[in-house]
Amino acid sequence: MATFTPAQHLQAVLASYDGSPHERLAEITTSLISHLHAFAEEVQLSRHEWFLGIEALTRTGQMCNGERQEFILLSDTIGLSMLVEMINHRAADGTTEPTVFGPFHVEGAPRKAMGDSIVIDPTDADETVVFRGVVRDPNGEPIAGAELDVWSTATNGLYDVQDAEQPEMNMRGVFTTGADGAYEFVGVRPVQYSIPGDGPAGELLFANGRHNWRPGHMHFVVSAPGHKTVITHLFDADSDYLDSDAVFGVRDSLVVDMNNGSCEYDFVLDADSPVDADQDTA
Ligand code: BEZ
Ligand code: FE
Repeated sequence: MATFTPAQHLQAVLASYDGSPHERLAEITTSLISHLHAFAEEVQLSRHEWFLGIEALTRTGQMCNGERQEFILLSDTIGLSMLVEMINHRAADGTTEPTVFGPFHVEGAPRKAMGDSIVIDPTDADETVVFRGVVRDPNGEPIAGAELDVWSTATNGLYDVQDAEQPEMNMRGVFTTGADGAYEFVGVRPVQYSIPGDGPAGELLFANGRHNWRPGHMHFVVSAPGHKTVITHLFDADSDYLDSDAVFGVRDSLVVDMNNGSCEYDFVLDADSPVDADQDTA
């Protein structure tokens, strides 16, 4: 009797989804199954290795809580989060490139006046940088009423939410541009820092001889009515790890010289198309 082959087995599994009432879910599920079967065949996955994977995913879930999202960290460190940004952003040439959002954004950061400082903790006031520039449309016109939601670590490499010593909302602020589209605020010079390495995402990095460092950066979410929101960072050109960011977020266009105490960068937001606006609210 002929042996039932892995290809026949895959076809049987895929066929069981034929009657799915949810077209998109079935598309995603069957594609994922096909790729997982191909992966297991390619590496000739042993039972022991399969179980190690199950255990690692179990520990990943057990590590998640309100403050810690280990699955996102895993997605970040295998480059999946950055790929999803690239697939979804679809911005025209000349507009600001996106990068990863990261897990340390906080809703409701204080609204500040243009030129204000986001540094609340005075122990951090030493190496400040003025971040300034203009938010523009693709024709170079300034955008009035653009919102910049910004956040960074303190100089110890920790975000306020990771560090009981920092005041709440340290290194966070929301700024709105006036008629000239200009923005300006004071922050600290971004430092390179390590992302959490004490869970399964870290284990996978270290076991493969990788590190968990990110180059110094300031986070931005820049949005304006009628324009596509961009989630991005500005990286310090003098930082280490620009070539080996643990989460693959660096883009040349986002690397800026911060040596003379200022970081000058103009954000360019693409116009929002009605189709995209529909999808965002779907
Ligand atoms: C961050 O830049 O805040 C970040 C991004 C991905 C994983 C961890 C941290
Ligand atoms: Fe960060």
